[in-house]
Amino acid sequence: MPKILVLNGPNLNLLGTREPEIYGALTLADINERLRRRAEEAGCTIAFLQSNHEGDLIDAIQGARGTADYIILNAAAFTHYSIAIRDAIAAVDIPVIEVHLSNIHRREAFRHTSVIAPVVLGQIAGFGAESYMAALEVILCRTGGISCA
Ligand code: DQA
Repeated sequence: MPKILVLNGPNLNLLGTREPEIYGALTLADINERLRRRAEEAGCTIAFLQSNHEGDLIDAIQGARGTADYIILNAAAFTHYSIAIRDAIAAVDIPVIEVHLSNIHRREAFRHTSVIAPVVLGQIAGFGAESYMAALEVILCRTGGISCA
């Protein structure tokens, strides 16, 4: 079964109180707990990291080589301008699923661009916490953990 790393970028530690009308009422701990339960049920190993610092996320992506089969990444604001995170994803041979709580494409123009989108497997945006759950289901489908029609 796959080993999964869930990475969250800046300000996502404030979920629950941060602009709840956009990002919802769940905390990051709530979301991680849901992911952990589903992953355990499916027999996957799952690990979590949140950081407000670009370099920490880059270190985590590099460090995932040999330890993670998939990365679920919400790079938050770094999504829109971090070429360094994009290059880290391109440098490691690990499929990354980009997730966003909000639908970045129907928000401010500066959020419409994801510089990481061209180097990830795919993007899931706009479903709140379900964006993360959907990413996990994609991984389970692709690795045979659940049967997909
Ligand atoms: C976000 C969207 C980004 O534009 C924003 O900077 C975030 C969160 C999301 O999950 O909707 O911090 O990635």
